[in-house]
Amino acid sequence: MRNDNARVVVPEREIATRVASMAGEITAAYADHGEGITIVAILTGSLVFLADLIRCMPMRIRIALVAASSFAGKTIESRGARLEYAILPDLCNCDVLIVDDILDTGGTLRIVQDLVRSGRPRSVRTAVLLRKRDVAPQDIPVDFVGFDIEDEFVIGYGLDYDGLYRNLPYIGVLKSEFHERERAS
Ligand code: XMP
Repeated sequence: MRNDNARVVVPEREIATRVASMAGEITAAYADHGEGITIVAILTGSLVFLADLIRCMPMRIRIALVAASSFAGKTIESRGARLEYAILPDLCNCDVLIVDDILDTGGTLRIVQDLVRSGRPRSVRTAVLLRKRDVAPQDIPVDFVGFDIEDEFVIGYGLDYDGLYRNLPYIGVLKSEFHERERAS
């Protein structure tokens, strides 16, 4: 599925290959955890990644959801992360894997990691599909990373601009002409 407003940064096939290999890395890391893990997925951006990832993980998995937001409407500037809601089970003594689409300024993961830790789990690990290598803070622990990318506002494969483009099968960047048109309108 092409979109004329977007330039491809990570093609669909590369995503599929890397997501499958990440699933292998994660499954291996929990090889001796027979009782399984609880995934805490951060909505909405991680939806597509989560769906593909868990179907490559042959193990016991429970899923809990939290929703956070940092970009409102037609903006590519973060206004700071905010937790919208959390539906969390009892995490005490669980092995938790936090799953998010992207580690950018780190505000979202900082909030969610703190929230999860407050549930006194046995272990907490974090997986992100994308990490902005020049922006991501060093003090946010991340155990599994799909791709390190440049500091550009990305869309597709779950990531949005103004609520749109989440269904693109690749990771892309909106072309500068698109942003010029948006500014003019
Ligand atoms: P922070 O800055 O808190 O960002 O690490 C994490 C959340 O913000 C969203 N985000 C983006 N969404 N393109 C998007 O569509 C981007 O380049 C981008 N950077 C951050 C995303 O929801 C992520 O969970």
